[in-house]
Parts: sequence; structure tokens; C-alpha cells
Amino acid sequence: MNKEGKRLAERVRQEEREKLEVVCRDPWRLRFHLMPPVGWLNDPNGLVQADGVYHVFFQYSPFDVNGKDKFWGHYTSRDLLNWDYQGTPFVTDEDFDRNGVYSGCALARDGKVAVFYTGNVKLEGDYDYILEGRRASVVLVESGDGLRFGEKRLLLTNEDYPEDYTQHIRDPKVFRLGDGYEMVLGGRKKNGCGAVLLYESDDLISWHFRRELTSAQPFGYMWECPDLFELDGEWFLSLSPQGLPREEYRFQNVYASGYFAVRGDFRTDGSLEDFSEWDKGFDFYAPQTFQDETGRRLLIGWAGLPDISGEYENPTAERGWQHALTVPRQLTQRDGRLLQYPVPELEALRGEEKRLLPGVETDAGAAFDLELSLEEEGKLTVRIAEGLLFEYNDGEAVLSFRDGDEAGAGIGEGREGTGEGAEAFSGLGRGRGVRKAKSGALKTLRILADTSLVEIYLNRGETVFTTRFYPERPLRVRLDGDVKEARLWKMRAMQVRLDLEKEL
Ligand code: FRU
Repeated sequence: MNKEGKRLAERVRQEEREKLEVVCRDPWRLRFHLMPPVGWLNDPNGLVQADGVYHVFFQYSPFDVNGKDKFWGHYTSRDLLNWDYQGTPFVTDEDFDRNGVYSGCALARDGKVAVFYTGNVKLEGDYDYILEGRRASVVLVESGDGLRFGEKRLLLTNEDYPEDYTQHIRDPKVFRLGDGYEMVLGGRKKNGCGAVLLYESDDLISWHFRRELTSAQPFGYMWECPDLFELDGEWFLSLSPQGLPREEYRFQNVYASGYFAVRGDFRTDGSLEDFSEWDKGFDFYAPQTFQDETGRRLLIGWAGLPDISGEYENPTAERGWQHALTVPRQLTQRDGRLLQYPVPELEALRGEEKRLLPGVETDAGAAFDLELSLEEEGKLTVRIAEGLLFEYNDGEAVLSFRDGDEAGAGIGEGREGTGEGAEAFSGLGRGRGVRKAKSGALKTLRILADTSLVEIYLNRGETVFTTRFYPERPLRVRLDGDVKEARLWKMRAMQVRLDLEKEL
């Protein structure tokens, strides 16, 4: 880190020391989800396990709770339960990243960690910042121990990208393939279509453009955060497309996030087919996957979205922080579709256990883990909290911010929370209304509820809903319907050490 970097990192430290207490006092502070020490968080970055240590970096704006000036924050853990905050290894200290150390990835190699990110620059002047006025470079930084990083090295600049692209190109994801390396970058083309650029390298330093990966039909104007990976012999391209028209059951949020199945060889003529959304809730975007040292492919998403203002809110911003990451989810493949399920490590946080009976309200504290199974062809209503319902009936799953007495009212209605009728919803969602998914018969349901963030997994992760909610009272859960068995555990907190006295 150069002199300017050290100065900035010290200023961040100061900000964290001053603001941390307010954030720590917030009852909506999360217990088993990673969140920013103070300020704003967005995408997970640089997910990797090296020498046993999991690294979770994240887009971090410590000085602005609404997300200006992006740096990378850094958490490490050996077990996904005990975390250490390691500060801000990458801040805006070079000309080529002066307006943001944007998203990227990490790669473990020969005991070292290599980080690739986007250096964002917005030139001063009268520009549209699409075709003109923006610089987006791929930057590499290496570390011997995953904690102290060397010099930033510029690998690709706007001059290296194809002519038919706008200046929106970013979010490198690098992976090994045979003896070489592949990199995908997300982009916006001049013809108004989103696409991914594939580059190749033998040494991680010099990169050659190989081809473009895009859909046969236009699919949004910008593809952010691409991630190309193999699971059980099938290849998938995950990305977060912007500009898809909203539908009743798909693309319900301002921006979407999901994956294509890659048919054929992605390096030559492989094509992108069958887009599936990762998540159907109100708050999910820009996930990244990585393979850990046990061989599992894990996904972590941003439990939030950009550009939601005017639709819904996150009141924690008034308490000095905003947004969080999802729990790590293990991916498995079934018939070309990906399932996501919380890593089993989290079960160690389960405390007091209760058996739930239909129709009986149960105190669930501030955070719980609920597992239930249903009778065949069953129906179900779960009141997760007063004002937040999950319902399943005949192939349709609905999450709605309503009171229990109005159960069923969400089904069959149009989009809410964006305009007309939004008043009908409970204040718990701060403007969030209804989200829906088509689903096969519901056999099992898992709900992870954490003070102000809930993740709902249908049929072991065939369908997932991730949503923020802001209860004022301890949660009281009630099930109604054809429940076979239901167990609930109150959840303890993970340990997140924020040692702000540690040497930088
Ligand atoms: C996705 C994203 C990325 C970008 C980063 C900036 O949420 O817009 O494309 O690199 O956030 O914070």
C-alpha cells in the first residue's frame, strides 16, 4: 500500500472507532450474517480459501452509509463461524482506481493469494459515463499471506477491450483451466446488450481476448459480476443482468441475478441457455462462488440491491450501517439446475430447540433456524413475524409483508411495493410488498431468520427467498397447514472480532 493508501486506511480506522458503538447497539445488527463494521456494504469480493483460511472481501464504503467511495473490506475465518475483521486492504490510492476499487475475485496459488479487481475512474467533465468519461481497468495485487498485499499492477485498460463495448466493463473473475487461466468480465455493449468478455492467460499477467459470451436473444443492457464455473461436469455462467422487464414470477426486482447453463465448449462455440434466477426475495444481487479446500462450491450473495430508492428502504442506514452478505450456501447440481443450501457449519449456532405444532404461536427470539417437512401435496402458511408471511399453495410460493389474518391476500395480486396499493403492506418491510415463485410440490422448508434478514429455502434450495425485514418486537412464529414435522432452534451469534487497535 502506498503512502496515500496508508493515510486512507488510517482514516477508515478512525471512522470505524468513532461509529462502531452506535452500530453495535442496533438491535437490527445481524448475528450470523457478515455486515459492514460501519457504513455501507455491497458485493462479496475475492472469495477464496487459502491455507485453511476463508477470505471474504466485500465492497465497502465506510465513510458513506449510502455507498460512495468503494473500497474493499476484509474478513477471514477458519470455520465460517469465527471471523476476524482485517481492515481495508484496497483503497482508492492510485490514479487508475481513484473513483472506486470495484468488484473482483481472488485466486489461491502456490501459497499466495492473487486479487483481481476493477479500478473505476470517472473523469471530470460533461460526459454520459456510458460511452465517454469512464475508465475501467483490471488490476492485480498479490499477497504471500493473504493479509499484506504488494503493489497494484495494471493488467488491462479500456484500450484492451473490443470496439463494440461501452466503457462499462468490470468485475473480473479468474479461474484456472488446465495449465492456464481464464478471466470473465461483465460488460455493456454499444448495441444496448449485456455480454461477458472471456480473456486467457498463461501467467496471470498478460491476457488475450478469446471471445464474447452472450445470449442468443438480447437479455438486459448490462451484465455485472460474471462467474463461470463447473459443477459435476456441467458449466454455468452466473451473472447479474440489468434492464430485464419485470414479470409476475420472474425478474421482480430492479435488477436480476441468476445463471445460464453453458452448452458446448465455452472457449469456442459454447452457447448460453436456460437462465434461472438465484433468488426470489427482495434483497439479493451480485453473488460470487468459489471452491473451498474440501471441494465444495460455495456461493455468497449481497443481501441487498442497488438503486432501490423509491421502492423500499433499509432503516439501518439511520443507525450507521447498511446491507449484509447472505450466509455461505453450498451449491449442488440436479438435472442441470443448481440448488443452494446453507453450509452445515451454521448448525453449530443452534441453541434451544422447540417442536412447533400447527396453529400454536411460538416465541422465536431475535434469530432462529426453522426446519419443517410437509405432508404430500400439502399447503402451508408460516407467519415468520407479525407482518411477514410465507405461503405455499398448489405450486405457488408467496412471500408477503402482511398480517396473518389476511393470509392468502397476496396470492393472485399484481406487483406491490412499487406503487399502487403499497399502503396495504405491513411497515415491517419498509415498502417491500409481495414476491412470488412457481415451485414444485413443497416437501421441506428451512428458514434462517436473523434479526433483520431472512433466508427461506424450499426443497433444500430448489427455490430461495432472501429478504430484509425490520421487526420491532421478538419474533413469534406460527405455522398453519399440512405440517408433518417442524423444529425451531434459537440461533446464537457468530463471533466477529473487530480489533480496531491492531496494527495496519
Ligand atoms: C454490482 C456492482 C459491480 C461493481 C460494484 C461497485 O453491485 O455495480 O458491477 O463492480 O458493484 O460497487
